[in-house]
Amino acid sequence: MKITLSVIKADIGGWPGHSRVHPDCIEVARKNLEKAKKKGVIIDYSVLAAGDDLQLIMTHKKGVDARDIHKLAWDTFELAAKKAKELHLYGAGQDLLSNAFSGNVRGMGPGVAEMEFEERKSEPVIVFMADKTEAGAWNLPLFRMFADPFNTAGLVIDPEMHGGFVFEVQDVIKHRKVKFSTPEEVYDLLAFIGAPSRYVIKRVYNKKGEIAAVTSTEKLNFIAGKYVGKDDPVMVVRAQHGLPAVGEVMEPFAFPHMVSGWMRGSHHGPMMPVAFEDAHPTRFDGPPRVIAAGFQIANGKLIGPVDMFKDPSFDRARQMANEVADYIRRHGPFEPHRLPLDEMEYTTLPSVEKKLEKRFEKI
Ligand code: F6R
Ligand code: MG
Ligand code: MG
Repeated sequence: MKITLSVIKADIGGWPGHSRVHPDCIEVARKNLEKAKKKGVIIDYSVLAAGDDLQLIMTHKKGVDARDIHKLAWDTFELAAKKAKELHLYGAGQDLLSNAFSGNVRGMGPGVAEMEFEERKSEPVIVFMADKTEAGAWNLPLFRMFADPFNTAGLVIDPEMHGGFVFEVQDVIKHRKVKFSTPEEVYDLLAFIGAPSRYVIKRVYNKKGEIAAVTSTEKLNFIAGKYVGKDDPVMVVRAQHGLPAVGEVMEPFAFPHMVSGWMRGSHHGPMMPVAFEDAHPTRFDGPPRVIAAGFQIANGKLIGPVDMFKDPSFDRARQMANEVADYIRRHGPFEPHRLPLDEMEYTTLPSVEKKLEKRFEKI
């Protein structure tokens, strides 16, 4: 049976500031998806929150980019934003950039990661959801999962994985894409994805062409033309049986790698893996964090979520993230804590520069 898993997310308002989603907004979203499930629009759903981002995880048979599903997500976000406005939550409706739905939420503010696949006899998937960072934050962990034998033993040991994987990379500035086949083209791949603010891994396939992973790559600031928050991306990864084992999918997050985002979307900071209950960034609006929801899919039903980072084996990563946060925070307004100038162009910095323009003298 062909199933589509759609993860669609938006910041519909924060409580307080940009720190978390209010439970009443989550409740409104659950009710609306329950209604849609009863009507048969979706097979199943799970509503979660990562920081100030509301996450709709849905299964159905309508394929990717289905109008019905995108409309359902959009309407759900509008209802949740209405609740957020009632409570005067912060930035209520901030990611709903357009007020007229026209068939697809892409380019309207929300982030989308969808995949359609033949459901296997047993179908484990992990949904990763990040707050206070950008889409390229998945590059390093995805590379580790699908191309690094020091992370994924299966690349060496499992004959079904030994052939490697294919990475689809998007150039988010020039709006073009390219595929790299690994292990043959590992160095070419790294030449691009090592620049995660521009080159973003969108999908990973096995060599039979079956989808293994997908990310959301919407760039909020490009859509709005001004800074409206970081993209706070999501990622779906299928696991086991010729794909990385669940543990190989989780392993990259034992290292809290440096990502851009954090305060005002303008700082480098460590990506901290946390349990659902700890996904509310408060220190300097961060540090950036990620939650992971594990599911088994059974005839489209979502058996889960399992809170995958609620595990003492990630305590060290959290501790290291806190140490790195202390270290880099002491740079205050200096790079490399603050992002380089070209990544700051959508912030308020250009208006500060403009104001001081006349004071500059030639040297
Ligand atoms: C980062 C983020 C926050 C805000 C910051 C300022 O993605 O959402 O760090 O940028 O709290 O927010 P405003 O400008 O709304 O006061
Ligand atoms: Mg927000
Ligand atoms: Mg957010």
